[in-house]
Amino acid sequence: MPTNANAEAAWTYHEATKHSYTSVRTNPHFLDFANQPLPFKVYPALEPSRMPTEVCQTGVAALSAIAASIPVQTNIAPDLQAVAQLLYLSAGITRQRKYSGGEIYFRAAACTGALYEVELYLVCGDLANLPAGVYHFAPAEFGLRRLRAGDYRSVLVEATGGEPAIAHAPLTIVCTCTYWRNAWKYQARTYRHFGWDNGTLLANLQAVAAALGLPAKVVCGFVDATVNRLLDVDSQREVAFSLVALGHDSGLSARSGPPSQSAPQVLADLSPLGVETVPLSRDEIDYPLMREMHAASSLHSAEEVAVWQGNAAPGDTETLPAEIGCTGTTNLPPPAGPIIQLTPLSDAEMPRDPIEQVILRRGSSRQFARTPISLTQLSTMLDRATRGIPADFLNPFGSQLNHLYLIVHAVEGLESGAYVFHRDRKVLECLKRGNFRDEAGYLGLEQQLPADAAVDIFFMADLRPIFDRFGNRGYRAVQLEAGILGGKLYLAAYAQRLGATGLTFYDDDVTRFFSPHAEGKSAIFLIAVGKSAKLRQ
Ligand SMILES: Cc1cc2nc3c(=O)[nH]c(=O)nc-3n(C[C@H](O)[C@H](O)[C@H](O)COP(=O)(O)O)c2cc1C
Repeated sequence: MPTNANAEAAWTYHEATKHSYTSVRTNPHFLDFANQPLPFKVYPALEPSRMPTEVCQTGVAALSAIAASIPVQTNIAPDLQAVAQLLYLSAGITRQRKYSGGEIYFRAAACTGALYEVELYLVCGDLANLPAGVYHFAPAEFGLRRLRAGDYRSVLVEATGGEPAIAHAPLTIVCTCTYWRNAWKYQARTYRHFGWDNGTLLANLQAVAAALGLPAKVVCGFVDATVNRLLDVDSQREVAFSLVALGHDSGLSARSGPPSQSAPQVLADLSPLGVETVPLSRDEIDYPLMREMHAASSLHSAEEVAVWQGNAAPGDTETLPAEIGCTGTTNLPPPAGPIIQLTPLSDAEMPRDPIEQVILRRGSSRQFARTPISLTQLSTMLDRATRGIPADFLNPFGSQLNHLYLIVHAVEGLESGAYVFHRDRKVLECLKRGNFRDEAGYLGLEQQLPADAAVDIFFMADLRPIFDRFGNRGYRAVQLEAGILGGKLYLAAYAQRLGATGLTFYDDDVTRFFSPHAEGKSAIFLIAVGKSAKLRQ
């Protein structure tokens, strides 16, 4: 059985799935539209129960919601209306567009190729208007299909080694990722997309939760097989990727969660559901590299989960890598080049467009006008998006695995050039000056969008300390964090009536462009921001 601690598998996967000028030109892959996967998971034998469709107006400004997190011990449970709001604004269908081959159902959060490989499941106790159970979210019907009746939260408590946020949660949302739905287009690189696309969805989910006053902690440390068994997914095709604990009930036991049955008993009684699902395509192409990456980053026992959480017993740590117990983060060297102080808007000054409105307005820019944005707009985006994510792998709160490097083309008050963002000092350090529109277009896989944007924000991470701290599973964490930060940047841009789009990139060329500063770091994510040539109102 591969062990998470030996990070060879993550390095192998990372290297094998890099894009380069040559790899893109020598890849014979084409899109087989006759074999395109279904956009939804369908259980034909289960009738969904519909949820309320009215979006409640919280009035909370998007720029507040993305920056805020509700203290973990705030006693509150979502009701069905809140559940519907969380699901709609993170994974619901918000727009439809017909094209010659059919119809695209666009969803609330950005997703590579609009292929939406992330499925959501609910595991809850009795909530107002929603009885305890395990449910699958059906976006097409905007409904819930009940897969199991009764309270199964203790299974998640067991799987996460008693993670307090899960143990006290009235509701946990489990996000799974389906290989083929995204690999149809992106082949083996899809495993990176799991983190990105799950992340943008979580950015919305956490912002909506904050607006509803709900604590929402992302948990990535869990025994994979236990969670997959609870949902009864075919783990060759679909795997649990992240959990989100929502709300808090201080009356629940910190160790065992809900008092239904003992977790081992519930686990022993977990039978396969035997519920049919509709095949996604005529046939599916398997990319074993991804399944190997997933297996090598899986946790198999409470002991492995404890190591993930940084809670390994002292005796156990002797066998662990030397850096265990550190955060996996690296500090940037103090600025050595010219610095520019950021000028973010305060709460009193910022645009107050509510989170619900901004999510519904968001869409990826398809063309940027080459007109400048202001330094204040850029500052506000960077400031608001990086104020910390409640997650079990970002400990203490506020830690960050990714560093932000920028290519600035058109920002008033900022010379064009390459910069690195020092989050702790709220400054940009200039690495080199110049007009790099052509270079940026090339780095973003030779697309026009990064060349025309006002600024391209690259996420770079030093994977070595991350793998030392978290093993192969650190790869899931660093991609997921990037997706969440990227999702927040999307919302911060649209809250200020700017446009944005996620992009893919030529991995090693990005590192070379930002070197020597970025030497040793890997390119993880890219988002371009600017004034959309056509902005959704
Ligand atoms: C991580 C990420 C990478 C993306 N990469 C590209 C890209 O390389 N080129 C592109 O045109 N759009 C890219 N997109 C935009 C998606 O195509 C877009 O999100 C999807 O079509 C859904 O549309 P929407 O964002 O307007 O809702 C990317 C989006 C994400 C989240």
